[in-house]
Amino acid sequence: MIIMGIESSCDDTSAAIIRDGEILSNVVASQKVHEEYGGVVPELASRAHQQNIIPVVDLAMKRAGIEREEISAVAFTRGPGLLGSLLVGTSFAKGFSLASKIPLIEVNHLQGHVLALFIKENGVEFNPPKFPFLCLLVSGGNSQIILVRNHLDMEVIGQTIDDAAGEAFDKCAKVMGLPYPGGPHVDRLAKEGDPHRFEFSRPRIPGLDYSFSGLKTNFLYFLRDNLKENENFVEENLADLCASLQHTIIEILLSKLKRAARETGVNEITVAGGVSANSGLRKALQNNAKKHRWNLIIPKFEYTMDNAAMIAITGYYKYLNKEFTGQDAVPFARTQL
Ligand code: KG4
Repeated sequence: MIIMGIESSCDDTSAAIIRDGEILSNVVASQKVHEEYGGVVPELASRAHQQNIIPVVDLAMKRAGIEREEISAVAFTRGPGLLGSLLVGTSFAKGFSLASKIPLIEVNHLQGHVLALFIKENGVEFNPPKFPFLCLLVSGGNSQIILVRNHLDMEVIGQTIDDAAGEAFDKCAKVMGLPYPGGPHVDRLAKEGDPHRFEFSRPRIPGLDYSFSGLKTNFLYFLRDNLKENENFVEENLADLCASLQHTIIEILLSKLKRAARETGVNEITVAGGVSANSGLRKALQNNAKKHRWNLIIPKFEYTMDNAAMIAITGYYKYLNKEFTGQDAVPFARTQL
């Protein structure tokens, strides 16, 4: 069974081909156009998707060495994401399904991030998590703890009530004058800094939910106050600011994850989403795994970011379960799992 996946929820246009759960190709075209604005501009994103989608799909088929007639179904991201961007992928997938007379399968982007852990690669040992497992999903738009009972049965047991962890990285990076997206820059600079030099506020949110907006405001005011005394405060303390900020975000993420593991009794732990590339977070997860006897599974870097391989693998499991979508499907900007 060959599934083509299409992902266009934010600023990456991606197409992937998967045969019986094994990846044949995964092409991602990232959009550079947003860099000068310090964030994704929705209208520019949808225009860039429109330009990229056909060449990206074409390349994915060429790299996989397959013809259109061999594809069994097309899976696409229906949401959540930017409406204009989603519309491009959704319309393309519908047209492709009609023209090729193959089924259409809608995929929830968040479910895709979780199922990225199930992508098989030729010559690489397949080591997926065992059910039930917990997935810490941390990206530019989401911070959630998901209890995964099987491929298609997932429950969000904790989530952010305001900003996502990636947003906290990016917004704080922006006020320090770092380029967008700031997360990777904070990660790089934090390696040279002291994580205990500055203390930032931590939220007091009940249960397993997260909040990052208080930290963001605290960070902003902290810089503003210090810049009044010393206009070079940021440049002179950049590494320590990044290290302390990153340390705080990781502590917030880990405190609820540990609590979730304790409360559910699940010690099979995974991570997904762009922020899972963070080296400090990976180290902290590994340390906690040793301490709490977690079986920790961290997916390959390229599958943690937005990509169509995760959409195709989710499409594969939905195909097996005969979950198909009609031509009347419209994208949705916000959705739960
Ligand atoms: O999952 P993703 O590619 O897509 C969106 O949800 O948009 O995640 C992107 C997010 C951005 O906020 C980016 O700053 C963050 O992931 N990110 C990182 C790192 N790499 C990417 N944050 C911290 N450290 C990193 N190394």
